[in-house]
Amino acid sequence: MPGILQQQSDERPTQIEVKELHPTFGAEIDNVKLAELSDGDFKTVLELMAKAGLTDTTHVDFSRRFGDLDDIRPYMTGGRKPRYDYYELFDAGNVDEKGNVLATDSPRSHYGKGNAFFHVDSSFNPRRASYSLLRAAKLPPPNTGGNTEFSDSRTAFDTLPEELKQRLLEKDYVGAHSLHSSRKRGSPSFFADLHPEDFPMHRHRIVQRHEPSGRTNLYLGAHIHHIEGLSETESWQLVWSLMGWAIRPENTVSVEWKSDGDLIIWDNTAVMHRAGGGAYEGKYVRDLRRTTVHDASSTAWGLNEKKDTRPGFNSFENPASQKLQASMT
Ligand SMILES: [Fe+2]
Repeated sequence: MPGILQQQSDERPTQIEVKELHPTFGAEIDNVKLAELSDGDFKTVLELMAKAGLTDTTHVDFSRRFGDLDDIRPYMTGGRKPRYDYYELFDAGNVDEKGNVLATDSPRSHYGKGNAFFHVDSSFNPRRASYSLLRAAKLPPPNTGGNTEFSDSRTAFDTLPEELKQRLLEKDYVGAHSLHSSRKRGSPSFFADLHPEDFPMHRHRIVQRHEPSGRTNLYLGAHIHHIEGLSETESWQLVWSLMGWAIRPENTVSVEWKSDGDLIIWDNTAVMHRAGGGAYEGKYVRDLRRTTVHDASSTAWGLNEKKDTRPGFNSFENPASQKLQASMT
């Protein structure tokens, strides 16, 4: 994977530098101008890019080359608008609508705590996500934390004990995914009166073929509320033993954000990720914005009905969701 590619443009060729981050997955790509990338070079640049020089507009435009984009309309209640021009940009930062740093005890901070567990984006939707493109609009000072960590869930499956691998293949388990569940798990006291069972969950098989590579993937993550057909105890034992296997140090890599404008791209159907905390929390702006691409593979919809309902918090009239809605402001 490491090496140097020639990026052709109308003006002059530039050199794209590729540095390996982990033996089985992850690469750092430097000196690339995404807005000028040819179709040929685009195919080689799928995992991680640095100093990409994207604006909100070019971030969204570039992301559309991967496929149809998800948007944040389900979370925008009461006529609220995002703090930037595009509904396609998910707000993964710690900034309020006035540009101030969120307090660590604010509702939105509680909402974000669930992202500290390894997860895949949008598995709680009927149609899951393929790529996420996360861009640093503004980073906190160096050495204040906030790395993003990744787990190679294909290699995790490959290396499972043979007996467990065979059990998974035979049983073909289905995970029920819930955004409400992962929010509550991240901050149980704050969301004490929220009951994920009161809301629809969406179903995706745990063992799936990753179509671009042909390899088998473990589709797991913190949004899983339970595994169908198992008791609550059996379900949690299996989920956490698989998660524990997938996030062993040999399967993970921690990526440090280095400069404003850095962009990390990952494939949610092949890796899990989580947000790392740090000393920046409650003190310094960490403004991260993400586009999320709808999966176009044959298993994109899992076992769900193909309809455009997404579990944002204005989708339900259940009073318990009011707190979640408030946490998004
Ligand atoms: Fe995420």
